[in-house]
Amino acid sequence: MRTGRTTTVVSLAVLVAGALASAAEKDVPALKDVFKDHFLIGGALNRRVVTGHDPGAAAIAEKHFNTATAENAMKWQSLNPWPGRYAWDVADSFVAFCERNEMAPIGHCLVWHSQVPRWLFRDESGNALTREVLLARMKDHIMTVVGRYKGRIKGWDVVNEALNENGTLRASPWLRIIGEGAEDKKYDFIESAFRWAHEADPEAELYYNDYGLESSKAKCDGAVALVKHLQSKGVRIDGVGIQLHASLEHPSVEGLEYAITSLAAAGVKVMITELDIRTQTRGYRGADIGRINRRSTQDANADAAETQRRLAQKYAEIFSVLLKHRKDITRVTFWGIYDGASWIGGSPLLFDRDYRPKEAFFAVLSAGRKDQ
Ligand code: G3I
Repeated sequence: MRTGRTTTVVSLAVLVAGALASAAEKDVPALKDVFKDHFLIGGALNRRVVTGHDPGAAAIAEKHFNTATAENAMKWQSLNPWPGRYAWDVADSFVAFCERNEMAPIGHCLVWHSQVPRWLFRDESGNALTREVLLARMKDHIMTVVGRYKGRIKGWDVVNEALNENGTLRASPWLRIIGEGAEDKKYDFIESAFRWAHEADPEAELYYNDYGLESSKAKCDGAVALVKHLQSKGVRIDGVGIQLHASLEHPSVEGLEYAITSLAAAGVKVMITELDIRTQTRGYRGADIGRINRRSTQDANADAAETQRRLAQKYAEIFSVLLKHRKDITRVTFWGIYDGASWIGGSPLLFDRDYRPKEAFFAVLSAGRKDQ
């Protein structure tokens, strides 16, 4: 049991560590200023940050970011967990936080196979839905969500992670039910989602977002085909998000350049939407939460000087590629703010568990300064 005295000592230690961290933080330039002539800089914000429960993280975001993405608050499961009932509190706090701090808010995400409530793909008797009913549910959701924030969201991830590694469309319930196994209907759910998002907020930018575009050329080609399909139908699509959940060993410079140049050549903006670098190098490389989590990516050597040096080098390499292609890149968003609240373990971000800037932060800073 903790005595009153130990509690006081622990609290004091936390306060002192926090004060030291924020002092260290105060001395460094803001990333959004360093990159202001090149692209927006942002981060994914979680519930604790936007509701005032993580002031250390909020301070970092306020200082360094001019854009932010809702990490979980705008997913279907979070917003619309029961049929016809919405829970807006955290999403509203996210938008308000962005507005208070002059960050362009990005809505994430309207149509995804993951983090969807169980009722979505079934009728009241538990049977699979027809194409028409699922399209109607999708329309209702998009009109309700995008409509609520009309004029306040810079851009929406309209469809998230619809592709397989080989570039074909993932056999999600969206594809199976709305596509009905017919080749000429395979893009219908994507097309419909983009059309309704545009109808609900004609000023908002609309994006397709996926992981692995930088490590599988076939998947990147699949994204280009998807963009071209929408363009051929006269459907608005402004950009493609390369999530970029990287590791110390991937992506290669060539793979990243292939993705940026192929997508830009298709006539869309390119954004890095979920940047982090896992330090644990074994195993699966993708970003499917069903296959990796904090535990499976824990890294006993995360804090070692050698690991931090390699992390800094990988960030420097990635930023040198992004700066080289800056005419095609509009935004770079980190997937989180500091290591303690990342969705993966190890040491994936620029700030450590005590909110202090790491060697990787300074590597990104100097990449940006070289190019100013
Ligand atoms: O909020 C609930 C809480 O009420 C519950 O008690 C607790 C018990 O598990 O779960 C909480 O929800 C968790 C949620 O994060 C908020 O912390 C979910 O279980 C957990 O699965 C969820 O993980 C998120 C994951 O997407 C799945 O939605 C991660 O935080 C988030 O970083 C991650 O982000 C995805 C992008 O949206 C898409 N690209 C890949 C990226 C990484 O997987």
